[in-house]
Amino acid sequence: QLRSVVVGLGAYLPKRIVSNDDIAKMLETSDDWIVQRTGIRQRHVAGEGEQTSVLGLRAAQAALADAGLSGADIDLIIVATSTPDYTFPAVATQIQAALGMTHGAAFDVQAVCSGFVYAVTTADKFLISGSHKRALVIGAETFSKLLDWSDRSTCVLFGDGAGAIVLEARPGTGRISDRGVLTSQLRSDGRHLTKLYVDGGPSTTGTTGHLRMAGREVFRHAVGMVSDVVNAAFEATGITGADLDWFVPHQANRRIIEASAEKLGIAPHKVVVTVDLHGNTSAASIPLALAKARDDGRIKQGDLVMIEAMGGGFTWASALIRW
Ligand code: ACO
Repeated sequence: QLRSVVVGLGAYLPKRIVSNDDIAKMLETSDDWIVQRTGIRQRHVAGEGEQTSVLGLRAAQAALADAGLSGADIDLIIVATSTPDYTFPAVATQIQAALGMTHGAAFDVQAVCSGFVYAVTTADKFLISGSHKRALVIGAETFSKLLDWSDRSTCVLFGDGAGAIVLEARPGTGRISDRGVLTSQLRSDGRHLTKLYVDGGPSTTGTTGHLRMAGREVFRHAVGMVSDVVNAAFEATGITGADLDWFVPHQANRRIIEASAEKLGIAPHKVVVTVDLHGNTSAASIPLALAKARDDGRIKQGDLVMIEAMGGGFTWASALIRW
C-alpha cells in the first residue's frame, strides 16, 4: 500500500502589510471591531508583479528547497485557487513552466477556502494509485483583487498569500502509524451559492466581479460543517481529538476556529492560529499555518496533524496527516 508523505513545505506572503488601522483610515471600522469579531490584526496585499502565479511559484520553490528536490523530480502540480492570473490557462501550468518543467501534469482545483484540502486529496489519489510519484500541492490566492474595498463587512477579512507542500508516494503498512495522508473527507452542498460568492465571471457578467458574503449565515454553518468532516476523519481512523498533536484549520476567523476545536474535544494548545497575521487567505491559509507551526518548532516528523476547511459552495473538507 502506498502513502502520500509530506517531504517539503514552504510559504510566501507579499511584502506589503495592511493593518486594521490602515483600513480604518479608508472606511468606518476599527482595530477593536475587527480583532474582537475575527482575531485578524493585519493582512498582506499583493503589489505589482505579485500575481497569484508568482506567489504560488515562490511558495513552491520554498517547498522544493525544503525537500531538497527540483522541478525535475515532480510529475504532478495541483494548484488550489479561486483567483487565477487568467481565466485560463491554469496557474498550475504557469508554475510548471516557471519551474522549467515540460513533463508531468499540472492543473488547478477550485473549492474556494477548502481548495487546499481538495488539492491534497486529489494529489493523494494520484499518488496512492501509483500513477504519479511526487506532487507539488499549492494553495495560492490574491483575494485583495476580488474585494469590494468599500464594503467593510468583507474587505477587512481577507488577504493574499501562498503555501505549498511536496507529497511523495512511499510504501506504507496501512496502519495509523504510517507517515502520510491517512484519510481525507470531502463534502459540498451547492444550494448555498448566494451566501458566499463572487458576483461576476466569464459566462455571466464577463467581468471578474466582487466577493459577496452573508457573514452571519456563513458563520452559522461553519462550526457544524467543520465538525462533520473532522468527526468523519476520526471515525475513519479510530482516533479522537485527544490523539491529535496539531489541529491546523483554515484561517478565516478565530471564533470559528476556537468554537470548532472546543466542539471536537481538541485542547486549545494544539490549535494553530495564524489568522491574526494574514487574515483569510482562502486556499493558502492552511499551508501558511502549517509552515508557521513547522518553522517555530511545533509540528515535527511523526506528529498527527488534522487540517480542515469550509468555504464557498459550500465546500468543506478535512485530511488527517501523519507528518
Ligand atoms: N467594522 C465595523 N462594523 C462593521 C464591520 C466592520 N468591518 N462590518 C460590519 N459591521 C457592522 C455591521 O454593519 C452591523 O452593523 P448594524 O448592526 O448597525 O447593521 C454590525 O457590525 C454587525 O454586523 P454582522 O455582520 O451581524 O456582524 P457579525 O457579528 O456577524 O460579524 C463577521 C461579522 C465577522 C463577518 C462574522 O459574521 C463572521 O466572521 N462570519 C464568518 C465569515 C467568514 O469567516 N467567512 C470567510 C469565508 S468562509 C470561510 O472561510 C469559513
